Amino acid sequence: MRDLVSETHVRVDDLIAPLFVREGIASPQPILSLPGVMQHTRESLRAEVTALAGLGVRSVILFGVPAVKDAVGSGAYDPEGIVQLALADLREDLGDDVVVMADLCVDEYTDHGHCGIVDDHGSVDNDATLELYTKAALAQAAAGAQVVAPSGMMDGQVAAIRKALDETGFQDVAILAYAAKFASALYGPFRDAVDVSIVGGGDRKGYQQDWRNVREAQVEIDLDIAEGADMVMIKPALAYLDVIAEAASRIDIPLAAYHVSGEYAMIHAAAERGWIDGDAVALEHLTAIKRAGAGIILTYFTRWFAESAAAGTI
Ligand code: PBG
Repeated sequence: MRDLVSETHVRVDDLIAPLFVREGIASPQPILSLPGVMQHTRESLRAEVTALAGLGVRSVILFGVPAVKDAVGSGAYDPEGIVQLALADLREDLGDDVVVMADLCVDEYTDHGHCGIVDDHGSVDNDATLELYTKAALAQAAAGAQVVAPSGMMDGQVAAIRKALDETGFQDVAILAYAAKFASALYGPFRDAVDVSIVGGGDRKGYQQDWRNVREAQVEIDLDIAEGADMVMIKPALAYLDVIAEAASRIDIPLAAYHVSGEYAMIHAAAERGWIDGDAVALEHLTAIKRAGAGIILTYFTRWFAESAAAGTI
């Protein structure tokens, strides 16, 4: 009877699996702070996504780890860059069976670790960075990305990317905008996963959002929708359920939330010590995010969820 009257159901096809692909490694590398998540080779990524598709997962988002980083993050838009090659691999293997998304940012590709071009004063130059993002969007679209997901939080990034895509014949490529992305301390394990450290111990408070603000988050979401976002994302998830609920009550386009690396790692770390039941907490988190109003959830638990659903254990 509890099932009959339950109000919220998480389904495999609500989930997007974030996946890492690294240039120049011979075998997949485990990420210590993200148990069960790997830096993939192109080959192991193909196998992983085929397996996920077999389990009913409908969508993945790729992050690249280049062998060489530089000041402008040129690997992000090089046609031979690791993510572009991986996107093409996946489209070749899976066609339209899986929605293949690409995170669109340059921090994994810059030697200073910032999400854009750093000026003489050490600040990120918003408008100069937009040009890098449009180049990355075109490279990702040309490689086969069905969705690009700008995560750098530069003002005007969605408009710039939409314009570049439309002018180049990629009208059908959708934009999932990281619209309200907070300058959170929960991204730590992700930065291990992509080998990013911000030079001089800096932070992203100049472009990511202040986590004290909920109204400002709504302004950011509205701006991205006005600029042409097809879907918007709030990130992280659990500490921002109020932001999700508020957005869900106001907007009519698909709303996503990113259950980020730190949220995943905390569950694993506590479960490893026997302090919590990790599976139960994972399901509770994902359900809470959906209940708050996000219909799409990016989560490192995707494979676990799909396997558990297939086995009938959740
Ligand atoms: C930026 C980006 C970040 C994450 C996704 N895209 C890191 C950051 O802003 O520092 C974090 C994801 C996670 O923690 O799981 N390219």
